[in-house]
Amino acid sequence: MERLDKVISNLGYGSRKDVKSFVKKGIIEVDGVVVKDNGLLVDPEKSVIKVNGEEILYRKYIYLMMNKPDGVISATHDNRDETVIDLLNLEHQVFEPFPVGRLDKDTVGLLLLTNDGDLNHRLISPKWHVDKVYYAEIDKKVDEKDILAFKNGITLDDGYKCLEAKLEILSNSDDGSEIRLTIQEGKFHQVKRMFEAVGKNVTYLRREEFGGLSLDPDLEEGEYRELTDEELSLLKSY
Ligand code: URA
Repeated sequence: MERLDKVISNLGYGSRKDVKSFVKKGIIEVDGVVVKDNGLLVDPEKSVIKVNGEEILYRKYIYLMMNKPDGVISATHDNRDETVIDLLNLEHQVFEPFPVGRLDKDTVGLLLLTNDGDLNHRLISPKWHVDKVYYAEIDKKVDEKDILAFKNGITLDDGYKCLEAKLEILSNSDDGSEIRLTIQEGKFHQVKRMFEAVGKNVTYLRREEFGGLSLDPDLEEGEYRELTDEELSLLKSY
């Protein structure tokens, strides 16, 4: 059971003070009865709650897809820098979502945010081998030897041997390469460190896919949207 004013306020209908005034005006109903007490305890999953005659859509979890911009931290709080949570509208912030895994401050692209701890856990657990696809620009020419080395498992600077990774060359010149990389892990700075292990540097990194979901091309950097029902079931079935 939860307080009615908290439930309604968390769904983005206004502050608790606003809800108090709605109750005073007599525009809130629970199971067909006009509410007199804003602190009434309700079960939002069972009761029909109406604000101004309109039934509220109760949900416990939200699932967001963001095109993370450069310069923003994948965390819920930071003392210095802007975080991905700061980019959300209040109506989504009230659900207290957090990023699923991390992208570096200078990495852009697909970042999921949710307040569903179980799904988050499954998606970031090394046990589940969730595919992550990155587009990257590399400062030197990537070649067949690198493709083979990535397939055989790159050893990182701390001695960790990566799982097999699929490296594809999209364009190549003596000035550098554009590549696509599919990995199933999410070690700290993993893509950058994998290239460092073969003597090259990542100069631009964008995540394009995560757990079978593709970054929506309509999302500009810094924009986000809720996942569709199809995307969510795809992610959950992953
Ligand atoms: N690998 C990196 O090096 N950085 C990221 O942000 C994601 C993967």
